[in-house]
Amino acid sequence: MKILVINGNPKKSGFIADATELVVNRLSVQGVEASLVMLGDARIQDCVGCFQCLKTGNCAIKDDMDDIVSKMLQTDGYVMISAVRNSDVTACYKRFYERITYRLGFPLLLENKHTLAISAVGYMGGKSVNRRLLGLQDVCNTSLSGHLHFAVGIPARPMDHKIRARITSAVDRLVEDIRTRKDRSIARKASYALDRFVLKRFVFRSREDVYANVLRHWKDKGYLS
Ligand SMILES: Cc1cc2nc3c(=O)[nH]c(=O)nc-3n(C[C@H](O)[C@H](O)[C@H](O)COP(=O)(O)O)c2cc1C
Repeated sequence: MKILVINGNPKKSGFIADATELVVNRLSVQGVEASLVMLGDARIQDCVGCFQCLKTGNCAIKDDMDDIVSKMLQTDGYVMISAVRNSDVTACYKRFYERITYRLGFPLLLENKHTLAISAVGYMGGKSVNRRLLGLQDVCNTSLSGHLHFAVGIPARPMDHKIRARITSAVDRLVEDIRTRKDRSIARKASYALDRFVLKRFVFRSREDVYANVLRHWKDKGYLS
């Protein structure tokens, strides 16, 4: 089993750095092949909105995203981990998310992957946006194994044993969900089906040229028949 850990915090020390180390170590104890991507160190330019990926599946911008996308496609699941900034995700995480929205999200290339999201905030804010974006839910619709959201103070307090235990057990649950191919809940299945209905009915209609790559994947998955 392969799991990709994606750290969206540009900071090299502190709570998110410690939590990332804990996650990677726990995955290795579980016998999982884990690799780590530090978005803050990667060259990720802004999406320019050319929509070439909708048609061809490829991105016009040549930077580290090709490598990150290829790693994402080759793994069984993800641990996405980052801090809340200004009640939102970090700037580098947002840039990353914009680059995968139409390239991986619209063609539903992540629908069978499981995700654990771990976010931290100083005091308050950003919980739902982090669940949606760090959890790879918005458009990407991965199967969300869990979302942990910790209020850790500014600067962050040292991680205590309770937080360690919660992270460890969430990682174990993710591994188990991947092993058993755990399905979405009925509520999640319904909301995912609604998302697909809206895209099919209002977005793709009569734009087959623009959405060629997306439609090819949807046909392969049987969602257009
Ligand atoms: C630029 C910036 C913006 C932040 N915005 C918020 C915020 O809106 N609300 C909040 O409670 N904490 C905020 N924080 C605090 C971080 O969420 C907190 O430092 C982080 O979760 C702790 O992890 P770390 O030790 O890895 O930095 C902000 C921190 C930075 C650097």
